[in-house]
Amino acid sequence: MCGIVGYAGARPALGIVLDGLRRLEYRGYDSAGVAVVCDDELLTEKKAGKLANLEKALAERSAADPDSAGSSPALGIAAGTTGIGHTRWATHGGPTDRNAHPHRAHGGRVAVIHNGIIENFAKLRADLEDEGVEFVSDTDTECAAHLLAGELARLRAAGEPEGPGLLATAMRQVCQRLEGAFTLLAVDADIPGAVVGARRNSPLVVGRGAGENYLASDVSAFIEHTREAVELGQDQVVLITADDIEITDFAGRPATGKDFHIDWDASAAEKGGYDYFMLKEIAEQPQAVADTLLGRLTETGEIALDEVRLTDQDLRDVDKIFIVACGTSFHAGMVAKYAIEHWTRIPCEVELASEFRYRDPVLDRSTLVVAISQSGETMDTLMALRHAKEQKARVLAICNTNGSTIPRESDAVLYTHGGPEIAVASTKAFLTQVVACYLIGLHLAQVRGIKYADEVAAVVAQLQEMPDKLRQLLDGIEPVRELARELKGAPQVLFIGRHVGFPVALEGALKLKELAYMHAEGFAAGELKHGPISLIDEGTPVICIVPSPAGRGVLHDKIVSNIQEIRARGARTIVIAEEGDSAVLPYADDLIYVPRTPTLLAPLVTTVPLQVLACEIAAARGHDVDQPRNLAKSVTVE
Ligand code: F6R
Repeated sequence: MCGIVGYAGARPALGIVLDGLRRLEYRGYDSAGVAVVCDDELLTEKKAGKLANLEKALAERSAADPDSAGSSPALGIAAGTTGIGHTRWATHGGPTDRNAHPHRAHGGRVAVIHNGIIENFAKLRADLEDEGVEFVSDTDTECAAHLLAGELARLRAAGEPEGPGLLATAMRQVCQRLEGAFTLLAVDADIPGAVVGARRNSPLVVGRGAGENYLASDVSAFIEHTREAVELGQDQVVLITADDIEITDFAGRPATGKDFHIDWDASAAEKGGYDYFMLKEIAEQPQAVADTLLGRLTETGEIALDEVRLTDQDLRDVDKIFIVACGTSFHAGMVAKYAIEHWTRIPCEVELASEFRYRDPVLDRSTLVVAISQSGETMDTLMALRHAKEQKARVLAICNTNGSTIPRESDAVLYTHGGPEIAVASTKAFLTQVVACYLIGLHLAQVRGIKYADEVAAVVAQLQEMPDKLRQLLDGIEPVRELARELKGAPQVLFIGRHVGFPVALEGALKLKELAYMHAEGFAAGELKHGPISLIDEGTPVICIVPSPAGRGVLHDKIVSNIQEIRARGARTIVIAEEGDSAVLPYADDLIYVPRTPTLLAPLVTTVPLQVLACEIAAARGHDVDQPRNLAKSVTVE
């Protein structure tokens, strides 16, 4: 969690850092702060709440003291050309001004920002307090600030030459004392023109500019300024100045990062005319699904996954699959289980990543662990995959974020190519993850000698039709918005589904909970009579996901019976069914038709109205759709 930005160059840093923070705000928005070095002075501002609060404080500061706005470059926070900025998702210490980053030490001349958790902070803090250091915040980060300032003082006292290298040396010493996950950035007023960064288990990328360089949690922070980036390895320290980027490991040995070119469009990270990023991302789903399929289906109906670095023999050896993921990605995994087991006949378990390693799962060399993560940084998923690797299982990541930690640490990766997802609530990531899972299932089926040859060929053709079906669905989505306005005052909303409709019900409920802050629950329709049916009261909205009557007709008929049961108990039934399904007509108080789609692929269409519903109900209730309370886009703590 937390977004961080650093800049060293010739232009005023403040605006560049604030723009970067705006793009990284999805990573956390409990507080924000900046530190700028200007004429050997360290100037900081930080505020609890969203970035707008920080911007207001900066505006007030410049109104109170015009010099601070840069009219006199010698004094202004707006004039300094070296700076760092932070947007926080609170871990240690509440979301207050005091706990906001940057944290300063050494008479206020060193400033540090941090993403992650320093696990040994209590011991470090006690040691520092014994040495007489007075802490002014409740954060783990403040330890790092004091340690860095102390290390700089020690090096200076030992006669080490002044300059950027001193900052890097001090940072390396500090990193050796820290345990846990961290990305740290720091500036020192006595070393103007340099920003030092360090990373372990948390993301940090370098942006390479002309006469200026950047550091950030992800490339969206600097994509406006440069498309040339450098990926850092684990346990590395990077020092940037206007003209130089120097990378070492924590022991000071020179290291090299991996250069890459950012090829996505900067406008992809803007709202593009929609009220919310979430609506834009919902609308992007046809293209996102097309991009996930691109180049992976051959004209002869084969699945081409050459990029996945597992040999056909590796795949033939697989005798068990575990899918590990969290939240929405977990629901994608649940959908995948139905498809993968059906097509491959390999047992496939889906497990919450946060539970996986703690229950000692049975894994070996012939187990394939599929780790699904949009961000590629989710700590629970990362820890699950590390556990799987320790047990010698092969790990295949499904990920949307190039160069992130989870794919880097996996044996193989299938990128979803969904483009940046900015809204905290996952939408296009879910659909593209489901498609990626289908591709893996079909590929496994092909490599291992297809049991359902005709069916697999048909599925490939049906997948190719999905972008058009999604366009058609979104073109007719207006009635769902109207329905949302009617449901905004409901005390609770329930969701039911069978088979792949069950994870869709869970996903619909998750979206509504996280965005609209309403009580919402998803159930396997057959479970209702074992307890949850007593939740149904007169008028309780129940969203019923109905599978296609074709193919697995029995599923369809069973859920139609369930709908009758809940309607008889007063529920308002909102039925999501396939176009032309007239059997549901007598039992649907509201009916949303989706394009005809075979059962296993149906989540790709049935999830979309639920996304729109949650988004519109949240907006109608006056909530911040893109940044719901208490959440962050990238959950980098366990
Ligand atoms: C919900 C949502 C979360 C994420 C979960 C995993 O809308 O977005 O539940 O799906 O935090 O995140 P990733 O996929 O980045 O590992």
